[in-house]
Amino acid sequence: MLVNAGEMLRVARAGGYAVGQFNINNLEWTKAILQVAEELKSPVILGVSEGAAKYMGGFGTVVAMVGAMIKDLKISVPVATHLDHGSYEGCLACIDAGFTSVMYDGSKLPIAENVAKMKELLAIAHPKGITMEGEVGSIGGEEDGIVGKGEIASADECRQLAETGVDFLAAGIGNIHGVYPENWAGLDFEALEAINEVTGGIPLVLHGGTGIPEDMIKRSISLGVSKINVNTEKQLVFAVATRKYIEEGGDLKGKGYDPRKLLAPGVEAIKATVREKMELFGSAGKAN
Ligand code: 13P
Repeated sequence: MLVNAGEMLRVARAGGYAVGQFNINNLEWTKAILQVAEELKSPVILGVSEGAAKYMGGFGTVVAMVGAMIKDLKISVPVATHLDHGSYEGCLACIDAGFTSVMYDGSKLPIAENVAKMKELLAIAHPKGITMEGEVGSIGGEEDGIVGKGEIASADECRQLAETGVDFLAAGIGNIHGVYPENWAGLDFEALEAINEVTGGIPLVLHGGTGIPEDMIKRSISLGVSKINVNTEKQLVFAVATRKYIEEGGDLKGKGYDPRKLLAPGVEAIKATVREKMELFGSAGKAN
């Protein structure tokens, strides 16, 4: 069932769990995530960066693919299609194309401008029933050309963005896109607590979900995080499983070169990762 991300995240926040945003890159990724969500009866958010959408053919292709897949695979759990780290123009294009949720990443702008642009986009998105995510501070590392220094968000700036009526809020608290370096200082829970106190109970978003230890995930959820984004980890497990298949000569045995066989180990690895995250985040069983 295609929905926006508002209700599912408000319910998650009230219920003390988080919904995973799993980024997609192609049909295999999408199908694997949707099938696991249905199997575990979990709500799910499909994250799409502008780069990934371009790779797949465009925003319209993504909307058509997800819509048809939900129907063909009889996916009954709530599914949102969400633009990840969108530009202003990207948000407008996704709203037009039929996404159910968009993130406007104005984190590099001065807060007044971030707030002003968010208000403009909300005035377009909300009447259409489309939810929006905003960002303050920045997520370290790089994702699809979006580079962040990893600044800790100011609680007051988070309050200002929350007051726009944005549906959920990503705040930089030392989280990083991609693999965490060995000397990573961990999440800044003091900052998260301060942000949670002044943002009126709106669902908070934790980006950079790959490699965050379980105890930190659980503590963030207890402090208002209701959406956790995972991208790199699925790419890594897909690559490892595919490498193993080829190194073991899987593609050379019989018709092992058939893409449906060649990609199967990677798809199974993605499924295992999504299952593990849905259990950890506590969303499994919540779409009954
Ligand atoms: P990772 O790639 O580190 O899992 O981060 C995903 C993310 O935050 C998408 O916005």
